[in-house]
Amino acid sequence: MGRFYVTTPIYYVNDAPHIGHAYSTVIADALARWHRLVGDETHFLTGTDEHGLKVQRAAEERGLTPKEMADQTSERFKDAWRLLDISYDDFIRTTEPRHYAATQQWLQKVYDNGDIELGTYEGLYCVSCEAYYTEGDLVNGNCPIHGRPVELVKEDNYFFKLSRYQQRLLDWYESHPDFVLPEGKRNEALGIIRQGLQDFSISRTSISWGVPIPWDPKHVTYVWYDALINYATAVGYGSDPERFATWWPAAHHIIGKDILRFHCVYWPAMLMAAGIDPPQHVYVHGYLLIGGEKMSKTKLNQIAPADLVADFGVDGFRYHFLRDTPFGPDGEFSYEGMVARYNADLANNLGNLLSRVATVVDKKCGGVGPAPSADSPLAAAAATASHAAAAGWAAVQPHEALDATWRLIREANAHLEAHEPWKMEPGPALEAVLGDALEVLRIVALLASPAVPAAAAEIWRRIGLPGRPEDQRLPAGAAWGGYPGGLPVEKGAPLFPRK
Ligand code: ME8
Ligand code: MG
Repeated sequence: MGRFYVTTPIYYVNDAPHIGHAYSTVIADALARWHRLVGDETHFLTGTDEHGLKVQRAAEERGLTPKEMADQTSERFKDAWRLLDISYDDFIRTTEPRHYAATQQWLQKVYDNGDIELGTYEGLYCVSCEAYYTEGDLVNGNCPIHGRPVELVKEDNYFFKLSRYQQRLLDWYESHPDFVLPEGKRNEALGIIRQGLQDFSISRTSISWGVPIPWDPKHVTYVWYDALINYATAVGYGSDPERFATWWPAAHHIIGKDILRFHCVYWPAMLMAAGIDPPQHVYVHGYLLIGGEKMSKTKLNQIAPADLVADFGVDGFRYHFLRDTPFGPDGEFSYEGMVARYNADLANNLGNLLSRVATVVDKKCGGVGPAPSADSPLAAAAATASHAAAAGWAAVQPHEALDATWRLIREANAHLEAHEPWKMEPGPALEAVLGDALEVLRIVALLASPAVPAAAAEIWRRIGLPGRPEDQRLPAGAAWGGYPGGLPVEKGAPLFPRK
């Protein structure tokens, strides 16, 4: 039993949700579901990032106020997450009063401690990143992330004295070797810190869409500085110290590599300056690529989650992104690849196991599922799968957790093929084979439920079990022998129709 506070990035409201946002969010959701299943006290936060120049400009282009634009787009994110069965506990919007209050308290505290100072800034700004760059950062004179021109900006700004935190950050990384994972991303973050850190500007006078600086309200807070604080606001920073102490620093941030610098360098330093420990882990994944390129609004190569859900169903969508793209490296998305994996893993492996078993139970056991045998050859495979799945989820490697779960499904199918229960006479031998397969289905429903919650619940129901997989606690709930037998088994329509 532990505590698990998991977050996604809060997404900008200038952009509609696409499968890149869904990728991070489905991973965070599956992790939250897994941790609930193993009995951890779990809190899952997502939300929207609603300030900054990018949002202000996008609103202007549409003839909306920034707040109207934010209201509309944050609803679209909520719709997308409802569609994808995302079980968030809280959805934060940075325009909420709770966030203004927390951000202003935070700023005041760091200002009083002397780590925020006034200065002048002249620099190259990428509006798409909401970040300054140096000449050296640019690629062909353009933003290294977006490949678009940067703007020269000059203004009076408050600065966060990040330069004072280089050694403390290095010490933190040294004493917390798994702070940033996977290791390649940790090395990237360390590289940035070792290059030397410059103070960064945290206020703007040129725009008005943001949280006012409490001691100098003609400045608003730079969007990234307020955005990062969302993770603290949402669990009671500045309003409920006891609640904050419950969830912090048990925080696990899931992010894409585009925002590594902010989460792995700026954020821990910001926390230190506010007298708070850095989060437990930052997990950094790569990009989903389409034709070798990162999806982006500017390249018009975005795919809406709903388009794929229409073809593959919610669980087909979730499964694909959890299983197909290992957490860490970039991964190419292709529709053909999605069809192939759906057919192989969901329609054939899992779908076949369920339909074969239900059909034979119907035909030869009067629709009543027999109990598994205590000395089944599948028991060891089930234990192996449970261990490996637990290790995969714990390491934030969903593809490994699911691969382990699907190995068990394949073993059960092979067991059926070896014994051919459809050819056996009714009796104890047949009942053992079917009972063992039903027990595998029960265990698979548990292990796969973080990825495919609706399908898992449906398998659970069809094999006659009461309640839902979520009501069980692992590892005990997945121990061999839990299927009691004597339950009605339902032959239903294919769980995952072939494509
Ligand atoms: O950066 N592949 O918001 P954002 C994988 N508001 N993940 C992708 C992706 C892709 N092609 N495209 C987007 C911001 N993502 C800030 C965050 S947090 C305090 C503030 C995911 O709307 C990935 O998680 O640009 C990435 O980091 C995030 O969306 C960026 O979302
Ligand atoms: Mg972005």
